[in-house]
Amino acid sequence: MSPNELPFIRDMFDRIAPRYDFLNRTLSMKRDVAWRKEMARSLYLKKNEPSLVLDVACGTCDVALEILRQTGRLSKVVGLDFSLNMLVLGTEKIASAGARDRVTLLAGNALSLPFGPGLFDAVTIAFGIRNIADKHKALSEFARCMKTGGTLAVLELSTPDNPLFQGLYLFYFKKILPFIGGLFSKNRSAYEYLPDSVLKFPKAQDFALIMEDAGFKDVAWQKMTLGIVTLYTGAKK
Ligand SMILES: C[S@@+](CC[C@H](N)C(=O)[O-])C[C@H]1O[C@@H](n2cnc3c(N)ncnc32)[C@H](O)[C@@H]1O
Repeated sequence: MSPNELPFIRDMFDRIAPRYDFLNRTLSMKRDVAWRKEMARSLYLKKNEPSLVLDVACGTCDVALEILRQTGRLSKVVGLDFSLNMLVLGTEKIASAGARDRVTLLAGNALSLPFGPGLFDAVTIAFGIRNIADKHKALSEFARCMKTGGTLAVLELSTPDNPLFQGLYLFYFKKILPFIGGLFSKNRSAYEYLPDSVLKFPKAQDFALIMEDAGFKDVAWQKMTLGIVTLYTGAKK
C-alpha cells in the first residue's frame, strides 16, 4: 500500500460525507437499504440475548441502526471509522434515533483495532473492505477481536456475471454514476474512484479464500440484485 493511500481515502470520505447518504439512496435506487438489512439478518443475533457487534468503516451508521432495529434492547454496537465527518453525521443519526446508550462511535483504523482479543459476538463491514488494500491484514484484525464462532459479514459492491447486464451496468457505473455523484458531491474523482475500486476487487471465490486464510470457516457468499452486491459471511475459527 502506498503511504498516501489511507489519508487519500479518509479525505475523500470527509469531503463527500454531507451528500453521502443522499447519493447512496439515489445511485442505488434505495437498494442499499435492503442490502444492509440482509447483512444484519445474516448475523443471526438472538433478539432477547445481549450481543456486542463491531461495525468497521461504519460511515454514517446505517448498519449500526439496522442492527439495532433487528435486535432487542440488549444489543450494543461499536462503530469505527477514520473519517471524522462521517462519524459526526453518524453521531447525529444515532442521537435522533434515541440510541445513544446502545452505540459507541470511535475514530480509528480498520487495520489496527483498539480492542483486546475475543471481545465481539459479530463484526460487520459494509462497502468498506474495498477501500483497504491489505484485506488479509484487516480480516485478521477482525478475527482477533471476535469470539470463537462469531459471525463476520462483509457487504461489498461487485461486478455482475451476466455479460449483457454487465455491459449495461459498467456503462452506468463508469459514465453515469461519476457524473451524478460529481454533480451533487462536487467531488467527481470520488465517484470515479468507486468503479475503479470495484473492478479491482477480487472475485468472490478469491475473497472467500482470503477470509479463510485470515481465520474464518464456513465461508459463504450470496450475490444480490443481479450480482451488483455480494454478501460474504464466515464464522471465526
Ligand atoms: C463507502 S463508506 C461505507 C460506510 C457505511 N459502512 C455504509 O454502509 O454506508 C466507506 C467507509 O469506510 C471508511 N474507511 C475506509 N478505510 C478505512 C480504514 N482503513 N479504517 C477505518 N475506516 C475506513 C471511510 O471513512 C468510509 O466512511
